[in-house]
Amino acid sequence: MSTVSNVLDRVLVLEMVRVTEAAAIACSPLIGHGDEKAADAAAVDAMRTALNGLYMDGTVVIGEGERDEAPMLYIGEKVGSAIGKGPKIDIALDPLEGTTICATAGPNSLAVLAIAEEGGLLNAPDVYMDKIAVGPGYPDNIIDLDKSPSENVKAVAAAKGVEPSKIMCCVLNRPRHEALIAELRALGCGVMLIGDGDVAGVIATTNPETTIDIYMGSGGAPEGVLAAAALRCVGGQFKGRLLFRNDDERARAAKWGVTDLDKQYDLTELAKGDCIFAATGVTDGSLLAGVKRKKGVMTTESVVMRASSGTVRWVKGEHRI
Ligand code: FBP
Repeated sequence: MSTVSNVLDRVLVLEMVRVTEAAAIACSPLIGHGDEKAADAAAVDAMRTALNGLYMDGTVVIGEGERDEAPMLYIGEKVGSAIGKGPKIDIALDPLEGTTICATAGPNSLAVLAIAEEGGLLNAPDVYMDKIAVGPGYPDNIIDLDKSPSENVKAVAAAKGVEPSKIMCCVLNRPRHEALIAELRALGCGVMLIGDGDVAGVIATTNPETTIDIYMGSGGAPEGVLAAAALRCVGGQFKGRLLFRNDDERARAAKWGVTDLDKQYDLTELAKGDCIFAATGVTDGSLLAGVKRKKGVMTTESVVMRASSGTVRWVKGEHRI
């Protein structure tokens, strides 16, 4: 019987980069063209084709939506060229994370995916998730969604040996975050507001150059699982709790096997065992440069990382058009 590691070994780690590269390249002609749907469709189509070329028995556990609302890369779709015989792999994907960013040529849109052995990724329904994240180097459980934003900032500031005023929090700029932003500002810490793209926002906590210490606020639950998979590989802490706006969303969670609707999930409950995270920049951002075209060549920048080894590989690609 295969161990976790060699199951993922059989799907070459670097192949994941080819998959995210394909999605990023496909949607790049649509950067700044104001058509979110067309950009997303191009990325989805290319990612699906690339995944179907890999020797694996893959299942999309986080994808473009449920089968009746997404024709491709829907939750439950089987992908890979070895269905029924290859290694069983669960896939969380977002071919274009930040559709609006791409359509408006803003920063930090990504083509992104995470893979794990069957059962390794939380089958998160497409609802909101309350999230909090910090980079590596802090004592365990320094962040807690049951604590107030101020308590969390003070704990991180104390561990860092600075005043709360020296802490920078990244928050999605949304009306629903008005109270959160007001509380953080009242505490005197910095608040970096982002328009979209909380996968990059969470990962930014792991890179001191971004100056972001904490990520806070609600965003998509699927993006939460993807970000958690990345932090499993590079270090850092993440907590997430599903948020439900109505009974339909609660029923959707039950359908995907979520029994405790109030649970605060830790990193290892969102992305268990060995996992691989890969992303390619679509537009320039804090994590990766975006796709560029120059004299018949397209350049891409990607990262692929693996939880079991902690290896992080940065990959620059040149693609002849
Ligand atoms: P899309 O790529 O689906 O447009 O998601 C962009 C995003 O900003 C995510 O990064 C984030 O988790 C989510 O939207 C937040 O949702 P909302 O825009 O409803 O606040």
